[in-house]
Amino acid sequence: MKTILEYLKEELEKAFEKCGYDKSAAFVTRSDRPDLCEYQCNGALRLAKSARKAPLDIATDVADALKDSAVFSMAEAVKPGFINLNLDEDFLASCIKNMALSERFGDDRALKPKTIIVDYGGPNVAKPLHIGHLRSAVIGEAIKRMGRYCGHKVLGDVHMGDFGLQMGLVICGLKEEHPDMVYFDESYEGEYPVDAPFTAADLERIYPLASARSKEDEAFHKEALEATASLQEGRRGYTALLDRILDISIADMKANYERLDVDFDLWLGESDAQKYVPDMIKRMEDEGYAYESEGALVIDVSEESDAKEVPVCIVRKSDGASLYATTDLATIVQRVRDYDPDEIIYLADKRQSLHFTQVFRAAKKCGIVRPDTELRYVGFGTMNGKDGQPFKTRAGGVMKLSILLDEINEAMLDKLISNKEEKGEDTDKAKLEEISRIVALAAVKYGDLSNQAKKDYIFDIDRFTSFEGNTGPYILYTMVRIKSILRKYREQGKEISSEAICRADSESQKNLMNVIAGFNGVIEDAFENLEPHRICSYIYGLCDSFNRFYHETRILGQEDEGKKASYIGLIALSLNILEICTDVLGFKAPESM
Ligand code: ARG
Repeated sequence: MKTILEYLKEELEKAFEKCGYDKSAAFVTRSDRPDLCEYQCNGALRLAKSARKAPLDIATDVADALKDSAVFSMAEAVKPGFINLNLDEDFLASCIKNMALSERFGDDRALKPKTIIVDYGGPNVAKPLHIGHLRSAVIGEAIKRMGRYCGHKVLGDVHMGDFGLQMGLVICGLKEEHPDMVYFDESYEGEYPVDAPFTAADLERIYPLASARSKEDEAFHKEALEATASLQEGRRGYTALLDRILDISIADMKANYERLDVDFDLWLGESDAQKYVPDMIKRMEDEGYAYESEGALVIDVSEESDAKEVPVCIVRKSDGASLYATTDLATIVQRVRDYDPDEIIYLADKRQSLHFTQVFRAAKKCGIVRPDTELRYVGFGTMNGKDGQPFKTRAGGVMKLSILLDEINEAMLDKLISNKEEKGEDTDKAKLEEISRIVALAAVKYGDLSNQAKKDYIFDIDRFTSFEGNTGPYILYTMVRIKSILRKYREQGKEISSEAICRADSESQKNLMNVIAGFNGVIEDAFENLEPHRICSYIYGLCDSFNRFYHETRILGQEDEGKKASYIGLIALSLNILEICTDVLGFKAPESM
């Protein structure tokens, strides 16, 4: 189905042509002055020069040509040459009805399905998930779902950090506490135990200790570097230990991601790509892309058009170790081999921008990917506290994700309870706890997603859990309100039907219909630009329009049954659209709240 703007554009094109003007100027946008009109066309201003005519005269010609149009109830030329447009009520109603009756509500643009991998989450093994990983998980999950909605085959890969110095630190920290463990005995040739000799809590304790110590104790730091190198070289005991650390860590991560309603198709990590490194490096050298520089092996990735110098991409350090870039390149080798993706999308902190520029260029240059494979990076900003500094615990430490989620659940529950008390409604604690978990998740996710990803934002529990303003709870509250009206309507023994939708009889209803008509293409556009916040702005606008209509209209109390059925059809469609959008964003509405 065409989008409403495409329809209107066609209608305008006919009018431009009829008047002898170039139809390429016939573009239509939603009005930026909704008090004056619903849509507008500014094409006359653009044509003035080539047509050698005053823009207002052109606009007047076009507006005259639209006088008998069945699409517009008003087409008016205004200074200096705008064409203000309002839709004909019957035309709008038939658009909405069509939409409601079509598959996927008319959101069915034909597209070439691609195979896409989304690399997000990026947790580091043996370290607890912290809030820095929250954004990656939340935005990545939304992007994955947006891609799927658009008909692509999308795989999410958690891409764990399981191969760096942190592994060496954990190994040495453990050795310190349990020097007798068989994993550390180099002469041991037997099988290693399958059960882990430690818990997630042990790991959480060991890593920070080891990390702090390595900063002060030079010898310990060196030992950790050596352990990392031995692990990378495949030392048996360390490899077995890594497997056990992974078991424990992954179970812990899964529990956290489950709370966030985030899930991955692939649980791969940096270590899974290591076996592709030697061949890849050899090819890079043989084909002349990689060369020695100050003992390291590097690839030139600068381009003439670079405004700022892009340094060489180092694929092997002088001590023989691989780096972050090496691993990311080898992971691409692996992905091409196993999935042949048309596109790979990476989510990472925006400070990693240079890294991804280097990796993408090196991958293209060395032919690791096809020239037409799209490699895209979504760099996100920092989540700050109210003080504008990176979000911390009250004690000033790094906030663990699970604690943050507990806090927001609690805040949400308090709000729900006091809301109920205010209204004198019953407060069944167990039920409210369940509801508050659903709403709290929406509060966190919407609070993140409604911002442009690249911007820093302030994590403000008070604001995020508010039922008013541009927040998750406001969106859900609106959805719950619609659900409740529809439930009552059904209880009256009536059926909801899109067939019943007819022309608007108020300004607020027409406005709601115009917003609904704008749904087609919203998710596609957001996906094309990898900008979930576009979907948030759309649903926020939709909720506002619905609420205005709701406050100004007697819906269930309406006496004219035809009108009532039409209202009901319209708000049911609003709910359908809100459900699609929230699902794509990664949260849902409860039945009541
Ligand atoms: N583990 C990394 C971190 O915590 C993020 C990984 C991002 N993805 C990637 N393919 N490099 O910063």
